[in-house]
Amino acid sequence: MTHPIVEHVRRMGPSLSVGLMSADLMALGNDVARLEQAGVPLAHVDVMDGCYVPMLTVGPPFIKAVTTTMIKDVHLMVREPLASIGDYVAAGAELVTIHPDACVHPHRVLQQLGTMKQARTPGRSVARGVALNPGMPVDMLDPLMDDVELIMLVAINPGWGGQAFIPATLGRIEAVRAKIAASGRDVLLAVDGGVTRQNIGQLAGRGVDIVVTGSAVFDGDMAANVADMTRALRAVSP
Ligand code: DX5
Ligand code: ZN
Repeated sequence: MTHPIVEHVRRMGPSLSVGLMSADLMALGNDVARLEQAGVPLAHVDVMDGCYVPMLTVGPPFIKAVTTTMIKDVHLMVREPLASIGDYVAAGAELVTIHPDACVHPHRVLQQLGTMKQARTPGRSVARGVALNPGMPVDMLDPLMDDVELIMLVAINPGWGGQAFIPATLGRIEAVRAKIAASGRDVLLAVDGGVTRQNIGQLAGRGVDIVVTGSAVFDGDMAANVADMTRALRAVSP
């Protein structure tokens, strides 16, 4: 059965998930409202623990404080998240993405997430994502395919926004698409990091369902950036 968040994205077409850590944190409510008005379907929160990745960002209180109609897409760059996933879900995380190389038992973390319900829509289960850094082989996904709703290729080495897109990601997209097709399940494919107004076009037509973008959206006219990037992502080659 297709997960409602997967269905929602399928209905919208390839979509942006915008990284809130790149917003003006002194005027976050205003930026969130403007993202909603611009039609952005997902709000991406980069949780960094200062251990799995060098930077330290925000946790459940931040996720709870953000009130929005957008889907709360929480990217956990956290070592051993098993003990804390319940806190993120209770704070409103609706799509929770983990890094399998940060967990001794990634399958158990996904199983556990699969039992959790969304705080805003209690009857509805949380959508589960698995993220792979550029140095991780895509075959890591094989034992996890039955327990994911999203696979996210991180196109930079995570830690901060504004880094350059690693071109080898394009080949990895093909490999992950093949794995999704072979699984027979309806799984979203996301790319996170280094996507700009200039290079988003190269992701169009490649089967990427969600593009996570931070700095590029907040550089200049946000609404125009969202519209331009969404259009470029959805463009079909002639
Ligand atoms: C990487 C994060 C990203 C990323 C997005 O550590 O997971 O979500 O920084 O920011 P940009 O689009 O600026 O690369
Ligand atoms: Zn992220």
